[in-house]
Amino acid sequence: MPPITTIQDLKRLHERRVPRMFYDYAESGSWTEQTFRENTTDFEKIRLRQRVAVDMTGRSTASQMIGEDVAMPVALAPVGITGMQHADGEMKAARAAEKFGVPFTLSTMSINSIEEVAGFTTKPFWFQLYVMRDTDYISRLIQRAKDAKCSALVITLDLQILGQRHKDIKNGLSAPPKPTLKTLANLATKWAWGIEMLSAKRRDFGNIIGHVEGISDPKSLSTWAAESFDPSLDWNKVARLKEQWGGKVILKGILDAEDAKMALKVGADAIIVSNHGGRQLDGALSSIRALPSILDAVGDQVEVHLDSGIRSGQDVLKALAMGARGTYIGRAFIHGLGAMGQKGVTTALEVIHKELDTTMALCGETRVGDLGRHNLLVPEDFEGRWQA
Ligand SMILES: Cc1cc2nc3c(=O)[nH]c(=O)nc-3n(C[C@H](O)[C@H](O)[C@H](O)COP(=O)(O)O)c2cc1C
Repeated sequence: MPPITTIQDLKRLHERRVPRMFYDYAESGSWTEQTFRENTTDFEKIRLRQRVAVDMTGRSTASQMIGEDVAMPVALAPVGITGMQHADGEMKAARAAEKFGVPFTLSTMSINSIEEVAGFTTKPFWFQLYVMRDTDYISRLIQRAKDAKCSALVITLDLQILGQRHKDIKNGLSAPPKPTLKTLANLATKWAWGIEMLSAKRRDFGNIIGHVEGISDPKSLSTWAAESFDPSLDWNKVARLKEQWGGKVILKGILDAEDAKMALKVGADAIIVSNHGGRQLDGALSSIRALPSILDAVGDQVEVHLDSGIRSGQDVLKALAMGARGTYIGRAFIHGLGAMGQKGVTTALEVIHKELDTTMALCGETRVGDLGRHNLLVPEDFEGRWQA
């Protein structure tokens, strides 16, 4: 096997190894996929200022996110059904993150449960909450995350209703996969994945099955989701959830300065500028393009993080230099996991770390905290002139 030097290399292996429905689930956006595409192409529009004859010794990418030490300000984003990309995927990704020294965020829609991930790791991880209609279930879920000593609650605000990804419908996405002819034909070519999956600790939704009354076998992700996400989630509910949690709260899915101000009002410890990796509102701005106006509105009062579109250390550097204090990767680590399990997640983190470190040096910086707009060449019309 040729050496792996980029996230793209891992993506190719991911596609080869994992059943089509789960690869497609990861590698798609909603409707026309415009926002999904622009999340990455907008990063390319920003250029870097090369600086020379700067002492580059003693560089460090170490930093902090919500007061926690991180080897680099790159957390693993919450990704649903990660345990279908690789057997016990959430446990393995969490362990890779812990060893590397970056935060891991467990999705509500994970395969491995909160307790399984806690039992497989030694440091606290972050728990991502989807707010469901069933308030008793949400209370129990919050209590479980507290019992597992999760150090932050990441409340996702941009999925009260599920954006449509055509491929998921066409592929009949479900966890575990339904034994249709098409699925079986594809699974026959993914035997290594199948053998590992046979010994997986779990193949259904660990935070849900056995914890929600009346749902013992969700027939498919979309049916369950359509019935369960709380469409009435509003800022009052967010404030109540924050109170119920009592610890650090990160609000995920902010793409507008007005919402960022509301997040500030409810006392968020951090916000994530995110469009859910282009999986929700197709036609929305890319995260990197939305970032400056949000920083203008709240950047000096709350920690602003960013995800959506990060595929390299250069992208991380651009987000940090634009003013984000932390970043998250979704697909970039999922490609690693699908390609090679825990080792693949470590490889993804190593690739991004090396790119970030080298790029930082060639920009003439030795500390991620010193990065700023002075390192970038941003097109004058980057944010665009839009009429509301
Ligand atoms: C396959 C997949 C599943 C996801 N599931 C969740 C989820 O369960 N909860 C959540 O808050 N975000 C979820 N997201 C969004 C990610 O947390 C993150 O915002 C996004 O992946 C960032 O974009 P990137 O993949 O371009 O890095 C998911 C993303 C992907 C790709």
